[in-house]
Amino acid sequence: MESFNHISNFISTKASEIEETFDLGDLTVKYGLQSFRYGTSDYLEELFQTLTLTDNTVFYDLGSGYGRVILYGAYHFPKVQFKGIEIIEERNDVCDQLIGELKLKNIKTYCTDFFEVDINDGDIFYIFNPLHEAMYEKLLEKLKSVASKKNITIVAESKCDVFDKTEWLSNYKTIDYDIDIRKKVKFYRSVI
Ligand SMILES: C[S@@+](CC[C@H](N)C(=O)[O-])C[C@H]1O[C@@H](n2cnc3c(N)ncnc32)[C@H](O)[C@@H]1O
Repeated sequence: MESFNHISNFISTKASEIEETFDLGDLTVKYGLQSFRYGTSDYLEELFQTLTLTDNTVFYDLGSGYGRVILYGAYHFPKVQFKGIEIIEERNDVCDQLIGELKLKNIKTYCTDFFEVDINDGDIFYIFNPLHEAMYEKLLEKLKSVASKKNITIVAESKCDVFDKTEWLSNYKTIDYDIDIRKKVKFYRSVI
């Protein structure tokens, strides 16, 4: 794969094949009551331009899907560590396949529920609407526990209202989608 466009096209093709095979009932039996909707960012370049990444940065995608965001990061920023947590095996397998083919050393995935993973080493958390509304409080508790030990950055895409309402987060940049005003990418710093 010569450029990230090739990688992105490969992911799109795989995603359209795989998404067609899913049945909501089967997914619920296998993984429990989760939100399984899939979507991915159209703003990768701007997203990564906005972030301050150092050699020590650990970037998490909570609900990493096919890994498009972390693969973009790992491909362009070889000194930064990228971690993705995705509950659906078929989606995560595509990411793992690409990590192997591209021989990327700075990226790792966990195919499990992100509530079960220790994310205390994380500095930046990218969150593209992975949960049903009622579960965000639990996620915010988990993130607050990380933020009580060091400053963290949260990037929320599409579902930002819960982060806007969180008193220990401060929004410092917003990217608006052109067409649908409800959809945004918002950047927050912890202020604990
Ligand atoms: C909207 S997609 C975003 C995919 C990816 N972040 C991207 O932007 O390309 C949300 C993903 O979160 C996953 N997800 C939902 N609940 C999860 C959980 N508790 N643990 C891990 N992954 C989860 C879904 O399966 C889905 O693939």
